[in-house]
Amino acid sequence: MEKQEIRTFGRRHGKKLSARQTVLIDTVLPTILPKNIPENTGKILEIGFGAGEHLREIARQTPAKIIIGAEPFMNGVASLLSAITNESNAIRDEYKNIRVYPDDVRDFLRDTNCKFEQIWILHPDPWPKARHEKRRLLRAEFLTMLAARLAPHGEIIIGTDHWEYFDWIKNAVAKTALHARTPDIQTIHTRYQTKNMAGTATPKYLILTN
Ligand SMILES: C[S@@+](CC[C@H](N)C(=O)[O-])C[C@H]1O[C@@H](n2cnc3c(N)ncnc32)[C@H](O)[C@@H]1O
Repeated sequence: MEKQEIRTFGRRHGKKLSARQTVLIDTVLPTILPKNIPENTGKILEIGFGAGEHLREIARQTPAKIIIGAEPFMNGVASLLSAITNESNAIRDEYKNIRVYPDDVRDFLRDTNCKFEQIWILHPDPWPKARHEKRRLLRAEFLTMLAARLAPHGEIIIGTDHWEYFDWIKNAVAKTALHARTPDIQTIHTRYQTKNMAGTATPKYLILTN
């Protein structure tokens, strides 16, 4: 049956991958899919990790936890794989806790029993044009899906430099049972944050809990 869900991401493929990146997608990616994750291990999810700068940072900071990243943009997945492997295409020690779901996170969430201590979403696609608003990922239905996947005391951390989307997300949160607070955290650097296409002074952050 054809998928009825509205697509929340842009392209799946960008410029042609390098020969090495193609090898990494074919040989390394299948070994780090998020399968058979032990229940008694702490888990963190990052949705739409882009090129994976922040995903790598949390992997290094929390070596005892499994860090799962979901990203349908294959050039982003390839960038991450290049950064976490050595010249022999083996995963570097500090990144052995990374798992990658190379597709729409909603498909992953429907299929998994994992509960997460943290769920990160940094710079979700803002879809700024009114006619594209329906593509925004962080609507009430999706947030409720995330709420069900939070471990006790788990947090959803959202950051965006698109202040209009930020207010729109807060309105969506108000339609759910989640509790929101605005943390006082320093700017988290990612590729999209550096581009600052919204032209705002800083990103805004939101923490959601059950
Ligand atoms: C604007 S980019 C931000 C990337 C990165 N977080 C950063 O800050 O540089 C948003 C990313 O979310 C991804 N994305 C959009 N919808 C998604 C979905 N349903 N599941 C997983 N990732 C998604 C897109 O492919 C894109 O790479």
